[in-house]
Amino acid sequence: MKKLTMEKIVSVCKQYGFIFQGSEIYGGLANTWDYGPLGVELKNNIKKAWWKQFIQERVNSYGVDAAILMSPRVWEASGHISSFDDPLMDCKKCKMRYRADNLIEANMTEDIKVNAMTNEEMLKYVYDKGIKCPHCGALDYTDIRRFNLMFKTFRGVTEDNNSIVYLRPENAQGEYVNYLNVQRSMRAKIPFGIGQIGKAFRNEITPGNFTFRTIEFEQMEYQFFCRKGEDEKYYEEFKQIGMDFFQSLGLPKEKLRFKDHDKLAHYAKAAVDIEYLFPFGWGEINGTHNRTDFDLRNHQLYSKKTMEYLDPETNEKFIPYVIESTYGADRTPLAIICDAYNEEQLEDGEIREVLKLHPFLAPYKCSVLPLVKKYHSEKATEIYSVLSKDYMVSYDDSGSIGKRYRRQDAIGTPFSITVDDNTINNNMVTIRDRDTMKQITIKIDELKAYLTQKINF
Ligand code: GAP
Repeated sequence: MKKLTMEKIVSVCKQYGFIFQGSEIYGGLANTWDYGPLGVELKNNIKKAWWKQFIQERVNSYGVDAAILMSPRVWEASGHISSFDDPLMDCKKCKMRYRADNLIEANMTEDIKVNAMTNEEMLKYVYDKGIKCPHCGALDYTDIRRFNLMFKTFRGVTEDNNSIVYLRPENAQGEYVNYLNVQRSMRAKIPFGIGQIGKAFRNEITPGNFTFRTIEFEQMEYQFFCRKGEDEKYYEEFKQIGMDFFQSLGLPKEKLRFKDHDKLAHYAKAAVDIEYLFPFGWGEINGTHNRTDFDLRNHQLYSKKTMEYLDPETNEKFIPYVIESTYGADRTPLAIICDAYNEEQLEDGEIREVLKLHPFLAPYKCSVLPLVKKYHSEKATEIYSVLSKDYMVSYDDSGSIGKRYRRQDAIGTPFSITVDDNTINNNMVTIRDRDTMKQITIKIDELKAYLTQKINF
């Protein structure tokens, strides 16, 4: 297969109904994307897999779905109002705006830790190395300013400073402000975890590499509340849990790596990313952070409500430490699509496009294909009605059977069920496997058990 490019991925995603440009008919809104019929299925399946592993199968694990708009005091306490920003500078000639760290990273010749540099050091580096404006070629920039990433809006009828509310830039705070509600209502004992899947918003100005960096995105965030002293052990444990999760979705070990943070976020004592090797290079898909008691302690300070946990056995009161394990619910599907996309040359020289998705993640679990529309549709529709009660099933009766197989391969459908005379006469169907292209014949009665066993996650 030719070297995979992001352009190819964008075009495949559009062609097969996975992802479309946001507001496309109006020329698009930068860094926004819409999921199409197949994209939404893939993304939902990834979220289901995450929820199953993190909430359903883990003991002492609870889900929440907190409001996106929270009291602005939350963001004062969390430090996002004062510290959640990017270093920006403008080209004085053409007025293009850049993130100084990204500009340096794209042009640096030696291995330097850009994230650990001050604004002054970054600006000096830009001039010393003669890093010109990529748009107009000038070397004349404004000073670097910190630009807060949170989107603001107004609540109520007036638009003044007292009515500002923020679109949350991370899910985590919804879990922190509810941690005692969850603990008490579920009678949870430390250590325990709270997970949430939801939207977050950031006013990102850098080009996004498709859905990798968007202004509106979803996170799957897990916060693990533990005792101080046990935090480092759990930090290591969650690093590995992240790595295992991505591999369980089918991402290969050699395209995943840990990357420690050079510069820590305002809330973290230790932080590490898991990166995937995208066609554009390594990119973060997960973060594990030791947030200590930073967030809970600050919420106690700002809200004047206790954030202390009362140990029922020892009667000891303390503010727990938090290990956060956060996953991008848009970056993960992107990594999965990049990895699953294959162009295979067949024996007859034809190129087969195939999306080798884990069956649990595939948008359609199977397709039902009447061999000859006129004779086999009725039986095929019957089978479709039964199977679609349990899974997403594709029904396709147009074109040659070969073409229909190719279409299903390209959208990642793991099993294609052909209905023919053998079905009408003997209640037997042919199942074709997407990856091996091998076919077997089984009884209609055995179909459900066969698929369920294959799709299991
Ligand atoms: N609560 C911690 C937190 O938000 P983060 O590393 O800033 O940490 C967590 O974000 C995850 O969210 C990242 O690993 C990434 O997968 C995803 N993410 C962050 N910014 C994003 C963006 N602009 N577009 C798409 N996904 C993003």
